[in-house]
Amino acid sequence: MCGIVGYIGTKAATSVLLKGLKRLEYRGYDSSGIALLNSHLFVCKKKGKIASLENELIDLKTDLSGYTVGIAHTRWATHGEPSDLNAHPHVSSSGKIAVVHNGIIENFPLLREKLISKGYSIKTQTDSEIIAHLIDYYVCKYEDFLTGVFVALEKLEGTYGIAVLSEDYPDRIIAARNGSPLILGVGEGEILIASDASAIVEYTRRVVYIDEREVVDIQRDSYQTYDLLQKRVDKCVEDIDWDIETIGKKGYDHFMLKEIYEQAESIQNTCRGRLLHETGTSRLDGLNLKNEDFTRIERIILIACGTSWHSALIGEYLIEEYARIPVDVEYASEFRYKNPILTPSDLVIVISQSGETADTLAALREAKQKGVHVLGVTNIVGSTIARESDGGVYSHAGPEIGVASTKAFTSQVMVMIMITIMFARKYDMSLETGQLLVEKIEKLPNLIQSMLDTAHDIKKIALIYSNASNFLYLGRGVQFPVALEGALKLKEISYIHAEGYPAAEMKHGPIALIDENLPVIFIALKDSIYGKIISNMQEVRARGGKIIAIATEGDDLIRDYADHVIYVPQVDRMLSPLLTVVPLQLLSYYIAVERGCNVDQPRNLAKSVTVE
Ligand code: F6R
Repeated sequence: MCGIVGYIGTKAATSVLLKGLKRLEYRGYDSSGIALLNSHLFVCKKKGKIASLENELIDLKTDLSGYTVGIAHTRWATHGEPSDLNAHPHVSSSGKIAVVHNGIIENFPLLREKLISKGYSIKTQTDSEIIAHLIDYYVCKYEDFLTGVFVALEKLEGTYGIAVLSEDYPDRIIAARNGSPLILGVGEGEILIASDASAIVEYTRRVVYIDEREVVDIQRDSYQTYDLLQKRVDKCVEDIDWDIETIGKKGYDHFMLKEIYEQAESIQNTCRGRLLHETGTSRLDGLNLKNEDFTRIERIILIACGTSWHSALIGEYLIEEYARIPVDVEYASEFRYKNPILTPSDLVIVISQSGETADTLAALREAKQKGVHVLGVTNIVGSTIARESDGGVYSHAGPEIGVASTKAFTSQVMVMIMITIMFARKYDMSLETGQLLVEKIEKLPNLIQSMLDTAHDIKKIALIYSNASNFLYLGRGVQFPVALEGALKLKEISYIHAEGYPAAEMKHGPIALIDENLPVIFIALKDSIYGKIISNMQEVRARGGKIIAIATEGDDLIRDYADHVIYVPQVDRMLSPLLTVVPLQLLSYYIAVERGCNVDQPRNLAKSVTVE
């Protein structure tokens, strides 16, 4: 999705902003632009990659080294096609105000008409352009930059994260947030503003999280935050606990591959300090649940989107089986509009890697509005979901730059496992079982590493099937969501159509797809339904489908039914998704690379979906 970066300080703003934009590339975008300010505004915008913007700046042969103030943007088109014109920053008709905007202004058609009647000429198809004209109008009217911005914001309906420059106020950037995140970086003699910490962290790890409906007036060596009623708000400076090294590729060809390989370690980070041997349980203090809450809770509702929704489905299987609490799993986008039936005995848990997904955030707010205790599972410290939940767990997977989620997913699943054990131990899981599970979890990183060590074999399979047009992923029980996740990964990065299904459902429809051109991936571990899944494999075999089986180490029989077998170590069912998903991630990765796809930034996708 769109990204914002702004800089005011002593360095040449252009290079800081371009570097910042590159750090935001992973979020997904289709055009970019920059506005620089000294006594005049300089604006350059370009469709396509940031390299095109850089080339354009070089071609212009303008000396930009004297500009020490600027704002920049990566756009992910919502209103109007990706083009040079529609790219941000947008400049008001007077040429004095430049704005970058994340979010959607819902009442822009009405505002556009009003602005046209006041003599403003609208040049683009975007909703964002009107913000520049509106601010221009009120800054002229009130003869004050900050007042003009405040009054303009009152007129906007929708969501925004904005950063604004005014030619008449050359040493300032004003930024505001309503539904689209912003973070301020406070460096030595310089201040940055961005939609994402990764654009800032190279310069400073000292940050201020701008909250909803706040405005920040940034000057060369100071800043002041306000609420929308123009009341001053004093904010704490916090430290980010990761650095620029963490978001490098570290020698891997792609971020996605690096992140797949980081999973043995990221899982450990998720569990660190949270597993209790003696009592055979987990300790998740951030949930803020008291003993009486555990007796009160009769149903858990897990809400998420995309890959996070798959970790919620795994959570459902685990919590119901081990803790015996009924669980419902909801797509956030559906939950928010269905006037959900909630009672005081419900517990809502929203799951979001970014902590900023618009639908998930809206679902959280809807649940809170209905008086239910809402917990958040997020990866990003200080994210909106983390801040608005009544309690929660950070998944501590570390920054995930590849658009297709991998390590963030396994860390979410690990959190689901720890929540399951915590609830199960409050009810009827024995001390012995709890202790055994804790021990097994501690051995998981080595097992994940052993899966990663099979990458070479998985690559060979990927090369055989990289030209397939369709894939089917089948699993049963807790492996069904893993099948969904495997299919989603393949779709996202290789653009091959793939479907995930519960294996036994196949004969109710998808079986019609099976022929010799259809690779079918079965997750067929040796468990209580192993025999059933072997029958499903025979049904595919009989119709000529090609079978790739993810099977339990030592299962030689399965070779009779599958064309290829990828073995995973024997592990408790509760922990098994963390192993079975790894070969599926690798398979998608190698297929996408073989097809020449942009693995880290797949077309049309955004890392953090902050619009509906
Ligand atoms: C898939 C993927 C998306 C996200 C979804 C929710 O690889 O990354 O499906 O899982 O957009 O995002 P978060 O977890 O940030 O709420």
